[in-house]
Amino acid sequence: MPQETQTQTQTQTQTQTKLQKLQTKQLSKRYGDFIALAPTDLSVPEGEFLTLLGPSGSGKTTLLSLIAGLSQPDGGSIRINGADVTFGAPYERDIGMVFQNYALFPHMTIAENIGFPLKMRKMPARQAEQEVSRVLDLVHLPHVAHRLPKELSGAWSTVLPSS
Ligand SMILES: Nc1ncnc2c1ncn2[C@@H]1O[C@H](COP(=O)(O)OP(=O)(O)OP(=O)(O)O)[C@@H](O)[C@H]1O
Ligand SMILES: [Mg+2]
Repeated sequence: MPQETQTQTQTQTQTQTKLQKLQTKQLSKRYGDFIALAPTDLSVPEGEFLTLLGPSGSGKTTLLSLIAGLSQPDGGSIRINGADVTFGAPYERDIGMVFQNYALFPHMTIAENIGFPLKMRKMPARQAEQEVSRVLDLVHLPHVAHRLPKELSGAWSTVLPSS
């Protein structure tokens, strides 16, 4: 085998055997006779930022709900960090989901909303504060930290990170 081809094959094998953070295989969902999600294979390695793009009704939210465990599939499997979580409870998956019709606490500031799950997980206040700042910087929204949800545009509220 030429050296170049051999190197290429090794790289392919390494990529294939690398642990995928998230993997779906032939994942599908029906509502009665209606196919909301046709069998879908998805592989997301650690650290990858993935955007799902498709027409309205193409199954994007259906796929994300299945991955988060908010609904159950009719076929296929879901693996997170290599473990089969297809029918596992949502809390076992450590996945956050920001809904299109967003679910922010109206009486809390944006920073408090983002920090709330961290508080629930008993993260020390100083560390939680740093994490809130980090994610707000990440989405270029540090200036909205002290605003209430009603003081944000609808589109920005869907961009807010869940912690
Ligand atoms: N609970 C339900 N019962 C019946 N059909 C449903 C249900 N939820 C979703 N669907 C249908 O499944 C299909 C996929 O819906 P989904 O919400 O996943 O689309 P989407 O790609 O997220 O669309 P959008 O871009 O508008 O958010 C749509 O045709 C939708 O009407
Ligand atoms: Mg959707």
